[in-house]
Amino acid sequence: MGTLAGKNLLLGITGGIAAYKCGELIRRLKDEGADVRVVMTPAAQAFVQPMTFQALSGNPVHTQLLDPHAEAGMGHIELARWADKVLVAPVTASFMARLAAGDASDLLSTLCLATSAPISLAPAMNQQMWRAAATQRNLRQLEQSGYHILGPASGDQACGDNGPGRMLEPAELLALLGGEPSGELAGKQVLITAGPTLEAIDPVRYISNFSSGKMGFALAATCARAGASVTLVSGPVSLATPRGVNRIDVQSCQQMHDAVIGQKDIDIFIATAAVADYRPAARSAEKIKKSTDSLTIELVRNPDILADMSARSPRPGLVVGFAAESSDLAAQARAKLETKKLDLVVANLVNQPGGVFGSDENQVLLLDRVSQTELPRIEKRVLAEKLVQEIAKRL
Ligand code: CTP
Repeated sequence: MGTLAGKNLLLGITGGIAAYKCGELIRRLKDEGADVRVVMTPAAQAFVQPMTFQALSGNPVHTQLLDPHAEAGMGHIELARWADKVLVAPVTASFMARLAAGDASDLLSTLCLATSAPISLAPAMNQQMWRAAATQRNLRQLEQSGYHILGPASGDQACGDNGPGRMLEPAELLALLGGEPSGELAGKQVLITAGPTLEAIDPVRYISNFSSGKMGFALAATCARAGASVTLVSGPVSLATPRGVNRIDVQSCQQMHDAVIGQKDIDIFIATAAVADYRPAARSAEKIKKSTDSLTIELVRNPDILADMSARSPRPGLVVGFAAESSDLAAQARAKLETKKLDLVVANLVNQPGGVFGSDENQVLLLDRVSQTELPRIEKRVLAEKLVQEIAKRL
């Protein structure tokens, strides 16, 4: 028996080939002690017969919104109230679109609107469909609406493609579902820096670093979902604030430093920001005119926010840094671990195939004083889940 013991779990299945994995998923959910009821969309029934899941769950499978028999027994509102948790796996692009729009045209989408239980979604689709602008827009909408997105994983697909869109394996889904209610970071104060900093040269120009802020925002969202109280100090980015996150917007390194260093009672500090290491020695009050053939701008060192937080008294319980390198990844990251006295370093090569800046994916090396773990290239959202697990282990 696990964390799902005695819980009412509603498993929604939509029409994707990964529906065949739901048999094993139901078996594992029951092994954890959950009472499982299955709801299938019409498209899901084209892949697997409801009878299979009825036999495995030990309960009738629900398939229709307006079913007189069901309404006399367990109707859609009763089912919505019965559920302690909802897991939809697999979730197709079409179902994501319906949920994002708040459409209630079938039993499963209606239940998702009618329940107050937490809802986890495990998307599964072709990699091109996953990357499509409309799907990514729906994904952001669903995340902001409080849906918990599990995966997808990257790899070989049923259609022959390779990329993001594979449904997580039943064991992985179970681990993420089990971890959610206990709140791995419940009661913890997390402080995260994200995005680039801008160092003004004159009223119209600045020096900066490439950074979309996606990694820091994904981490903030994941920490908040894991039960932490999260403050996100961000440089200028065009990303929506994750639900439940307290965001402070800054521009320069000095402003980011000031916003961070004054925060009290921090259990976990994570520095994902791409901070400009130098700023112009003087900011010209007037726009600099192009009157000379060359121009020299004197730069002075900025404070190191991460090193200062690590040296601060009281020190946060756990200090996590990132290392962006273009060569000698492990050696350079280890040097940062030591000089900045960090507990964990997340290191990546900025010139990896597919890129990092602005990308939704990243490949990293995790380093602490005793170990070194190489992760495959995965989505930043999925990486954020893994990092939160690594952080929770070290608390
Ligand atoms: N960092 C910081 N303040 C700075 C510079 C970096 O907080 N002024 C943090 C980053 O957020 C990151 C880590 O330090 O977590 C490493 O940043 P990186 O740019 O890889 O390295 P630097 O420390 O700036 O060193 P170098 O540029 O020499 O590689």
